[in-house]
Amino acid sequence: MVKRTRLAIVVIISIGVGSLLIHNRVYAHPQTQPTFAKNLQVLKFVKSKEELKGWMKMIKTSLGVDCDYCHNTDNFASDEKPAKRKARMMLKMLIQIRQDYFSYPNAKQPTCYTCHQGHKEPVNEPSGGFKSND
Ligand code: HEC
Ligand code: HEC
Repeated sequence: MVKRTRLAIVVIISIGVGSLLIHNRVYAHPQTQPTFAKNLQVLKFVKSKEELKGWMKMIKTSLGVDCDYCHNTDNFASDEKPAKRKARMMLKMLIQIRQDYFSYPNAKQPTCYTCHQGHKEPVNEPSGGFKSND
């Protein structure tokens, strides 16, 4: 009986910790800047330079642009280009959407491509007369 209760407690605790881990799986919010970057405000959870490169490649391909659309390539940390500032807002939105709506097991994760499909600005209006600002 005692053993059973103990087992039950262990199981309950593991489920609790497990679901916490799933919820926070990649987007935990460390306050410190990773060593490989100077000015990450959204992608602070990224663990390595390689992983950051992966995100940047995803962004670049999703919008059909080059790195210099958003970056002064002599200083990637600079926020001087408006497109970078807009992209940061979009990144925040994307991560929020992932956390709020796609955190269940095996969910396909939306990317910038999901909306942009290779365009700087998404093609917003389906044929048939709907206007996106209606
Ligand atoms: C559509 C805009 C956009 C494009 C294109 C883009 N980036 Fe970025 N990049 C960002 C944003 C936004 C951040 C900051 C993210 C944050 O605040 O967490 C960033 C951050 C970075 C950083 C970190 C700089 C630092 O020290 O803080 C590097 C390095 C970088 N990008 C490299 C690249 C490379 C290389 C490419 C091309 C393969 C690229 N980026 C394409 C928007 C872009
Ligand atoms: C939910 C759909 C959606 C997602 C996901 C999305 N975007 Fe956007 N994005 C838009 C829309 C809509 C606009 C046009 C907004 C406007 O008219 O101001 C836009 C505009 C932009 C612009 C400004 C383009 C310009 O030249 O003015 C940038 C840069 C951008 N997005 C970057 C990104 C990046 C980077 C990501 C991924 C981190 C992303 N977006 C994900 C919908 C999205």
